[in-house]
Amino acid sequence: MTTRIETENTVLHSRQVEQILTGIATSDGAGVKLTRLLDHELQARLDPFLMLDAFNNDKAEDYIAGFPNHPHRGFETLTYLLAGRMRHSDNAGHHGVLESGGIQWMCAGQGIIHSEMPEQRDGLLAGFQLWINLPAEHKMQAPWYRDVQNNEIPEYVSLQGALVRIIAGHSQGMAGAIQRPVTQPLFLDLHFADSTAFSQPLPAEHNAFIYVYSGEVSVAGQDIAANSMAILTTAAADDGVIVQAGRSSRIILVAGAPLHEPIVQHGPFVMNTRQEIAQAIEDFKVGRF
Ligand code: CO
Repeated sequence: MTTRIETENTVLHSRQVEQILTGIATSDGAGVKLTRLLDHELQARLDPFLMLDAFNNDKAEDYIAGFPNHPHRGFETLTYLLAGRMRHSDNAGHHGVLESGGIQWMCAGQGIIHSEMPEQRDGLLAGFQLWINLPAEHKMQAPWYRDVQNNEIPEYVSLQGALVRIIAGHSQGMAGAIQRPVTQPLFLDLHFADSTAFSQPLPAEHNAFIYVYSGEVSVAGQDIAANSMAILTTAAADDGVIVQAGRSSRIILVAGAPLHEPIVQHGPFVMNTRQEIAQAIEDFKVGRF
């Protein structure tokens, strides 16, 4: 459902580009080709975000084996499908099929075992998976899962003509599909027409980045090409970000409140101490997930 709006977000001092990254081509699951844009080295800088993968494969052999059963503990995952069909099922009894434009939000909490498998034999499979940390006090909560289909994601068209899909958080006073109280993640999918600017207010202390998945945009005069991620500066004087597109372009804008807690990751387990990781490995081994 697309809402038309009467006013435009105002940002007086935009954040700037601190660093541009293009990620590392790798594969995960049972051999799904993807680009890992955010990993260990950036976890402190982009707290509360732990990982971002972008996948964009039109050859079945690059995705067909999917992500068979695997565990998670201590964080949440957002999967946003731009194209294709994926089936999710987990040992907490959740099942869902994710289709183009839809999202899946999964809170692994104390532990979940799930599979994410392509529900297609050919054609394009494209999208993102973002991992969002949980605060220490929520890491051992019960797991939950929610999928939101394409037509249920709130969206609006800005006065300048940018289509804004609000996956998580708020924009222009509108609530997105998912709200999380502690990390307050903002996840916007922005579709720019030619010569369009878009402004999004951001709390000064929140860490933020954009990823351009088609076209090209600029922030504070710095160009960001397709398939590039730009980490945005964090400064007390900045009240948000202004993104300018000269031509038709698509990006995601992601921001969140840092947790400032120790991060200890062992594969699909993200806890605060080595002791808790050892416990996670033990719990998984003996079937306590
Ligand atoms: Co998973």
